[in-house]
Amino acid sequence: MEAARRRQAPVPEGSRADWLVRALGRAGVLPRAEAERAVREGRVEVDGRVETEPFAPVLAGSAVRVDGQPCSLEARTRALMFHKPPGVVVHGSDPEGLGTVFERLRAVLTPELRGYEWLAVGRLDRDTTGLLLFTNEERLVAHATAPRTHLPKRYVADVEGSPSVEALRQLREGIVLEDGPTRPAGARLLAPSRVELVLTEGRHHQVKRMLAAVGHPVLTLHREAVGTLSLDVPEGAWRLLSDAEVEQGLGFRA
Ligand code: URA
Repeated sequence: MEAARRRQAPVPEGSRADWLVRALGRAGVLPRAEAERAVREGRVEVDGRVETEPFAPVLAGSAVRVDGQPCSLEARTRALMFHKPPGVVVHGSDPEGLGTVFERLRAVLTPELRGYEWLAVGRLDRDTTGLLLFTNEERLVAHATAPRTHLPKRYVADVEGSPSVEALRQLREGIVLEDGPTRPAGARLLAPSRVELVLTEGRHHQVKRMLAAVGHPVLTLHREAVGTLSLDVPEGAWRLLSDAEVEQGLGFRA
């Protein structure tokens, strides 16, 4: 109860102040679940005393040791692109047992990057493939997914039938869905049953709902780009983004 209350409370005041387990995950020391275990097992010291409360407040400059080893809580923003394969979910667990993107990513990361708590920047459906960004910085997730940011996302969908000029016009101008009208979008035909859509919002199942609304249910969906970042790694692979890519490609300043 206490832990749940603390998790929802605002971050403590102070420069780069944070809850202990979140700070460890952001700094690449231990991902959140492992950090929580280490803290509860009494393996983490903060400023010279063992801390057993995972949500104890810490400052970036606190002297922290894990298993006796000093570690820094100073964290710089890191971000990577991952080429999501079909079948895996963007959730912490998968009730169907096919796996999560977090498990897939962790399995292919280099050891020095496995200490981070990698947060997914938005979601893709289980069957959607393509560009999924991850970061250690919650503010980047908030920036990229905020409705007011209007970060463009480019999708390619194979659909039933062949959308007409009129259907493409409707997609471009906006469609009234159950949760309101869609913003103007880019829409063009790449092949008789293949549509490219560029959206500047990210509502639940939005591409599938828009295409179904104009009579062309989606058969397969792939995300090619977010902001000005285009997917350039093979399925199941990842690469780190440079600071310039994060700043210019996603419009985020750390
Ligand atoms: N729109 C969808 O319908 N599904 C996705 O996975 C992403 C966007």
